[in-house]
Amino acid sequence: MATDIQNRTDIQRLVDTFYQRIRQHPELGHVFDTVAQVNWETHLPKMYNFWENTLFGARTYKGNPMQPHLELHQRFPLSEALFEQWLTLFKRTVDDLFAGPIAERAKARAEAIANMMVQRLYSHSPFNFTE
Ligand code: HEM
Repeated sequence: MATDIQNRTDIQRLVDTFYQRIRQHPELGHVFDTVAQVNWETHLPKMYNFWENTLFGARTYKGNPMQPHLELHQRFPLSEALFEQWLTLFKRTVDDLFAGPIAERAKARAEAIANMMVQRLYSHSPFNFTE
């Protein structure tokens, strides 16, 4: 039986597996590897820190999660459908590896952040005069 996400080693396993799958995904793989040309050696540790912070309150992540997505969106529109695919893959990866309250929290946080990101990206429309 799967156990819950308990520590940074578990987070590393989750993040590594998730981004391996991202890179094999026909659409997401293209965005990460061809459009954004992500440097995986720096991106993966950043994501370990991000999730350690999100799930365990560790103060290892310093950064602005929104910024790279805003920049990327200027060059390659990140559609709501693409975020949905990201989220589906993330949830499936969590469920394949872990089970328990922290695993549930990881999926809920990912969903909340994905929703927030989509809202932020699309509030930057040229017709939004309140900006
Ligand atoms: C379609 C969906 C998404 C795409 C295509 C995407 C793509 C990217 C790319 C290209 C980067 C920059 C990597 C680099 O060059 O270092 C990045 C960074 C990041 N992403 Fe996403 N992302 C998506 C959704 C999400 C979601 C839903 C979350 C949160 C749960 C998230 C969290 C982050 C974080 C924390 C960073 C690092 C930000 C920093 O530089 O501090 N992403 N993403």
